[in-house]
Amino acid sequence: MSSGNVVRLGEIKSSNVARTPTGILEVDRVLGGGLAPGGVFLLAGEPGIGKSTLVAQIANSIPHHHHGASEEPVLYVSGEESAEQLKARFERLGFTGERLAVLTDTNAEVVSATINNLHPIVTIIDSIQMMTSSETDSAGATTKLRASLAILAAAARDSSTPIILIGHVTKELDIAGPKSLEHLVDVITTFEGDRTSNYRLLRCIKNRFGTTDEVGVFSMSDRGLVEVANPSASFLTTRSTGAGSVVTAILEGSRPLLIEIQALATKSRFPYPERRASGFDLKRLDLVIAVLAKHARLPVTNADIHVNVTSGLKIREPAGDLAAALAIASSLTDRIIPSTLIAFGEVGLGGEIRPVRDAARRIQEAKKLGFTSFLIPADAENPNPTKGIIPVTHISEILKVLKV
Ligand code: TYD
Ligand code: MG
Repeated sequence: MSSGNVVRLGEIKSSNVARTPTGILEVDRVLGGGLAPGGVFLLAGEPGIGKSTLVAQIANSIPHHHHGASEEPVLYVSGEESAEQLKARFERLGFTGERLAVLTDTNAEVVSATINNLHPIVTIIDSIQMMTSSETDSAGATTKLRASLAILAAAARDSSTPIILIGHVTKELDIAGPKSLEHLVDVITTFEGDRTSNYRLLRCIKNRFGTTDEVGVFSMSDRGLVEVANPSASFLTTRSTGAGSVVTAILEGSRPLLIEIQALATKSRFPYPERRASGFDLKRLDLVIAVLAKHARLPVTNADIHVNVTSGLKIREPAGDLAAALAIASSLTDRIIPSTLIAFGEVGLGGEIRPVRDAARRIQEAKKLGFTSFLIPADAENPNPTKGIIPVTHISEILKVLKV
């Protein structure tokens, strides 16, 4: 057997991969500059969340390129909508769609041949679940998906054309069906939001070309998705001023976002009080309530408690605990939290308030929006001591910020 070809890393130019910006800033931020040539990008999200809308906007805004005399088209492989329906969608968004080449064939081999023939600037597959391949006509869904994906990935690589795959998910992270497909794509982004709110978050959970730290924020309007340049300010525009409302600072990747947590605590008429959460983990809520009962001696045990994160966002880190606890205490005692205060910190089982990462960055975001008091863990690492910090070590201390 002959020896394999080795490459010395020292001889490789360490320039970054060239990217094709999509022309949508929030998308390019999440992708780390844009689409990499030959890369396979999965856009996963629940049905109806706005995936087709987002790719239509990308198709419209991606900068023009020329291949010889003719302009490179955007190849849109549609397994769900006819070309007429796509045109209607584009027109609704105010786009002509004239650069779009639509293929309604869902055979991966046909798509691959079309890519080679057409030299598209980008290929969009809506959706990966609709793809088939000639070789696996009678195979199960997973085998089919895997075979189609392999063919498409090879076509992307050989033609240096990026491919955006839309994948429907039923529940969080159950992307494009089985997890086993995840390693076949280079980048996985998820598009999420609450159906009852207009905000949509684009997150990156895998990125072979860069980091996964960025998040893009959009708002769904009747003219498509609008980029939200200052999400914190936007999330707080409809803020309530009564008892039970507290603002917290969460981190989405490296981006601090200010959001309002609302709680409603009322005396229960039932033997088992109700506990409801929207945008807040129900298990964490139970823990916060138990800690409030035992370590802050608040009469929460017989109270129905509802916690709601406004703007439809989900809090995924324990940093929201302290604000949730404070909101519950505020509602229960009918005392208002000063509107210039934010709170963040993890609540431990012993009632201790534990530090969270990047306290300084959260505080900085809050200051930008005019907040002046910061209820935070006492041992939060904060390189720039700031006026207005109210350090807490134990849950029993939170009552001191409640006003009559
Ligand atoms: P869509 O992009 O079709 O979702 P997905 O491809 O993820 O299934 O959009 C879904 C919803 O968005 C649909 O209910 C209609 C709404 N919508 C708007 O509110 N404004 C718009 O401009 C468009 C195109 C859609
Ligand atoms: Mg769709």
